[in-house]
Amino acid sequence: MRFLSPAEAAAALLQDKLVVLPTETVYGLAANAMSDAAVRNIFRAKGRPSDHPLIVHVLDLELAEQLGEFNEESRELARAFWPGPLTVVVPKKPNVPDAVTGGHPTVALRAPSHVVFQDVLRRCGLALAAPSANLFTELSPTTTNALNPKLLDFLAGVVEGGPCDVGLESAVVSASSGQFQVLRPGMVTAEEIARRTGIEPSQETSRQASPGTHDKHYQPRAKVVLVDRLETGQAGLALNPSGPNQIRMPLDAQGYARSLFSALANLDQHGITEIFVERPPFGPEWVAIHDRLQRAAG
Ligand code: TXA
Ligand code: MG
Repeated sequence: MRFLSPAEAAAALLQDKLVVLPTETVYGLAANAMSDAAVRNIFRAKGRPSDHPLIVHVLDLELAEQLGEFNEESRELARAFWPGPLTVVVPKKPNVPDAVTGGHPTVALRAPSHVVFQDVLRRCGLALAAPSANLFTELSPTTTNALNPKLLDFLAGVVEGGPCDVGLESAVVSASSGQFQVLRPGMVTAEEIARRTGIEPSQETSRQASPGTHDKHYQPRAKVVLVDRLETGQAGLALNPSGPNQIRMPLDAQGYARSLFSALANLDQHGITEIFVERPPFGPEWVAIHDRLQRAAG
């Protein structure tokens, strides 16, 4: 793995190269969002279908407004949660290449809070398209250790930023007419969004609205099976472990989210072929965790 400083990463991005960067959610596979060629390389590296749109990362709302048409509600979402793990979907402006939005008329924008990502954004002065730095359908990496070696051939390099603090991908949200809709749940919950912005959650649950959030996703190599309680001898993720290869998961949602993908990757690296996962508690702050577990289990 070739490690880069933020300055080296910025220089590579300005030459339309791909770089893996840390964010507070998961590691991202970043490229110049305004370059068709650079964006096409992201799709090639990930093996991702070209109609799955990418999130564009910016330093702040002012820059975001150069790329998308914000209404009052989407502006309020950004003001309340940026920089942070919330992505806002808005109609795109004509300057955003179709390659980034997968041909969709909207663009997903987010200002990450990770200081290393921000440092690179400042140095290169670009908006950066960055999907999670995994191969299509695989687990998102939350450490540089978890990066798939197959991805490395496509990269100028990797910027180390330590383990990701949130551990699950950002919440993806759109809003209009006093309502918001969660297109992909994240650790910023619908309850928190409503509380901090005064915008009402839409009653419609839409799974169609976020292209690329299909059922088979976030999958380790091993088969994942959700159970109420691990039996002795079963390898997996437990709230109360009782044997070898049973990883003790935190009992709080933030802690659980932070360690989920690395725990699954860890068991994969030990060659375990069937991972049993004890269903964690339910409740608003666990929604994104259940979403990812369900998809991991296919
Ligand atoms: O936390 C994150 O969001 C990470 C880090 C690297 O920022 N990125 C990430 O990107 O998870 P990706 O490409 O793996 O997921 C992008 C999500 C998908 O669910 C996609 O459908 C949704 O954002 N999305 C992107 N553009 C969209 C659009 N125009 N309309 C609706 N959903 C969109
Ligand atoms: Mg992803």
